[in-house]
Amino acid sequence: MAINIAIDGPAGAGKSTIAKAVARELKFIYVDTGAMYRAMALYLIRQGISPKEKEKMEEVCRKAEISILYDNGSQQVILNGENVTPYLRQEAVGNMASVSSADPVIREKLVELQRTLASRENVVMDGRDIGTCVLPDADVKIYLTASVSTRAARRCKELEERGIPCSLKEIEEDIQERDRRDMEREISPLRQAEDAYLVDSSDMTIQEVKEKILCIYSSKSRKEN
Ligand code: DC
Repeated sequence: MAINIAIDGPAGAGKSTIAKAVARELKFIYVDTGAMYRAMALYLIRQGISPKEKEKMEEVCRKAEISILYDNGSQQVILNGENVTPYLRQEAVGNMASVSSADPVIREKLVELQRTLASRENVVMDGRDIGTCVLPDADVKIYLTASVSTRAARRCKELEERGIPCSLKEIEEDIQERDRRDMEREISPLRQAEDAYLVDSSDMTIQEVKEKILCIYSSKSRKEN
């Protein structure tokens, strides 16, 4: 049976960096579910559809073909035959995804794809609802978080390194708004699964967080063997 590690948490907690590092160490596949919601959001933007037009949005999304490929271990998202990975990290796409991902039709479609991947391969999958909804029987569940100020400072640094000017205050407000939307939505809100390990990375380095998760994984596998 495939081994599944679920990592959930709020935006900017470092999930993708950590999940990628853990997957590399264990030789598992890293599945970034946020990228799938972003691909659907990009499709909506390109079609000029607002999430307020619920019926139209759902009709369009039912027709969208999303699949995942791996290029040298790096996840590529294919939308209707086009590799859209380079466009997914744009702010506008993230903002749209944060709203459109609350839709049940979109969630159902992407959750099915996520479960299929996890049933075939050993995965480290990150998102918001992996431990609570997508993979309730995951072998290890981690809830990775950090304070709003830490997450905002990390995001600002990342933008500045890419030459994009930013305001710390605006980023903090944006993070708070995304947390609110992710945690208060009706379907699959972001929350810690009862059997998830809480890891607060506010005062930890990437290496420390990675080692902590690998430690949790190996102590769980030892107990089960
Ligand atoms: O992790 P991210 O920023 O790439 O995710 C983009 C959006 O998709 C985010 O607002 C939350 C949503 N999302 C979700 O609802 N469920 C997931 N499993 C992953 C992401």
